[in-house]
Amino acid sequence: MGRGNCMSNELRPVNFDSILGQENVVDRLRISINSAKVRGEALSHCLLDGAPGLGKTTISTAIANELGVGIQIANGGNIRSVKNLMPYLMKMEENMVFFIDEIHRLPVSVEEFLYPCMEDFRMDVGSDNELSMELPKFTMIGATTEAGNLSRPFFDRFTFKYQLKLYGQDVLSKIVSASAGKLNMKIMPNAATNISMRSRGTPRIANGIVQWCRDYALDKGSQTLSNTIVDEACVLSGISKNGSTEQDRTYMKALKKFGRPAGLKTLVDLTNIDKDTIQYVIEPFLMRQGLIKRTPRGRVLS
Ligand SMILES: Nc1ncnc2c1ncn2[C@@H]1O[C@H](COP(=O)(O)OP(=O)(O)OP(=O)(O)O)[C@@H](O)[C@H]1O
Ligand SMILES: [Mg+2]
Repeated sequence: MGRGNCMSNELRPVNFDSILGQENVVDRLRISINSAKVRGEALSHCLLDGAPGLGKTTISTAIANELGVGIQIANGGNIRSVKNLMPYLMKMEENMVFFIDEIHRLPVSVEEFLYPCMEDFRMDVGSDNELSMELPKFTMIGATTEAGNLSRPFFDRFTFKYQLKLYGQDVLSKIVSASAGKLNMKIMPNAATNISMRSRGTPRIANGIVQWCRDYALDKGSQTLSNTIVDEACVLSGISKNGSTEQDRTYMKALKKFGRPAGLKTLVDLTNIDKDTIQYVIEPFLMRQGLIKRTPRGRVLS
């Protein structure tokens, strides 16, 4: 969801050895990457599906690093026509990775243009698609929060599909410790556990809390993240023990006050929170907590 920024980039693992968790995905990728390297060919196209902040961009850039090839990065939301796509294809080199984030946002016309590019490494251009141009063999990596929104033929052209899962607390705790280390902070084991429990199974959230606790600790003149520091910092920023935030509470209050099933649009209007955050961050969490339900008539308290 394009929320990657320089803050998280310094903490982003660059190769598979520093990617923690998601073993099922990473192990399978290692095998296919080794095979591609042995054959000297491009890795087959991959689709990564998962909630925001679970590591789609991280894994995609690490794939290029593991393959030892260059990567071009585009966002489906910015490619409004084939014209916007062309510069990437013109710069494509043999075995390179073409990463398209939020790939479900590509217009159908662009999806259709990509079919022969992906399948036969050929693009059909000209007013009647009468000119066919050969492309270097490349690897398309698509990242999406909604694999279900890709058209079937497009979905089918990705040979490998990977579904990223929420992270367990043990793995998150390791990610938290690694991130604290990268930020030159000491961290107590119980403080790492504390942060991991507030992280909603999501590395990006974990890293955000680590960074806030670092700021808080330094302000108190300490280079160590202790359990007490984490507790205090989280109270100040409204992150509860189970990871609920001010936004979750705003949402719950709005739904309670509304008093009947509410649609997504209504909730956006009532809370002033953007649609994607409600749909992909707040609601999945509240559903896991058993606090709300999505019904055909709208969202309700449960
Ligand atoms: N498996 C992992 N091990 C260690 N750190 C990770 C892992 N996955 C993600 N991270 C950390 O979480 C941050 C967010 O991950 P990333 O940007 O890859 O998520 P994303 O799935 O692309 O999210 P979005 O859907 O918002 O684009 C990264 O910058 C990285 O620091
Ligand atoms: Mg991303």
